[in-house]
Amino acid sequence: MIHRDDVARRAFILEHTATIRAPLVPEFQLHLATEITPLWQATENSLSQIGLPPPYWAFAWVGGQAVARHILDHPELVAGRTVLDFAAGCGLISLAAIRAGAKAVTAVDIDPFAQTAIALNLALNAADPNERVRMSAEDMVGHLLPGVDVVLAGDVCYERPMAEAVILWLRTLARAGLTVIIGDPGRSYLPCSGLTALARYVVPTVADVEDSATKATTVWRVEAG
Ligand SMILES: C[S@@+](CC[C@H](N)C(=O)[O-])C[C@H]1O[C@@H](n2cnc3c(N)ncnc32)[C@H](O)[C@@H]1O
Repeated sequence: MIHRDDVARRAFILEHTATIRAPLVPEFQLHLATEITPLWQATENSLSQIGLPPPYWAFAWVGGQAVARHILDHPELVAGRTVLDFAAGCGLISLAAIRAGAKAVTAVDIDPFAQTAIALNLALNAADPNERVRMSAEDMVGHLLPGVDVVLAGDVCYERPMAEAVILWLRTLARAGLTVIIGDPGRSYLPCSGLTALARYVVPTVADVEDSATKATTVWRVEAG
């Protein structure tokens, strides 16, 4: 199996991405797939044959862009607080949380490629000189999170089993007193109650992965409900 180690994953990411800025969050550069590096289409054709998971980390999903924009514009949500960026992908929300003054950030994603992509994106932006970001590949769904004040999650309602488990867990965390914020463009498995809208953005999309040129995307607070 190739791409087993971090060095090989770094090489793969650098080869298959360009350095660009997400439209809603131009503050940061990111290693992302583009029309010139069409990684998503490659997935079904070849990546699965060589044992690679879908490259979620290669896109700044609209839900993540909306959450990142919102906390950059409302830094009081995270300033001085300990943040968990759940399902971090490329790490855009973690970058925004650090910029907004979070005390510490844990970027959690079960895909080792995401871990490598986040490290590359932090370095690209010289974003974490004080090493406030920690990375974890642990599956934390269902776990209590002692010491965490805020959970941020971009675009996690795209598959039924994951969305159901994650929303249940996030409500438990909200009941325990954590601030829980998600960004979502109305994906199929977003619950229709127990959410309070904080902001709405129209986010330009990447043609490869969405069915329209823009997505109206809402930043929601998850209620204990
Ligand atoms: C659609 S992407 C969203 C990435 C990022 N939040 C954004 O908005 O750009 C979903 C991410 O969830 C991650 N993921 C799926 N199940 C997970 C779990 N149980 N724990 C942590 N991450 C998970 C995937 O690896 C993927 O990177």
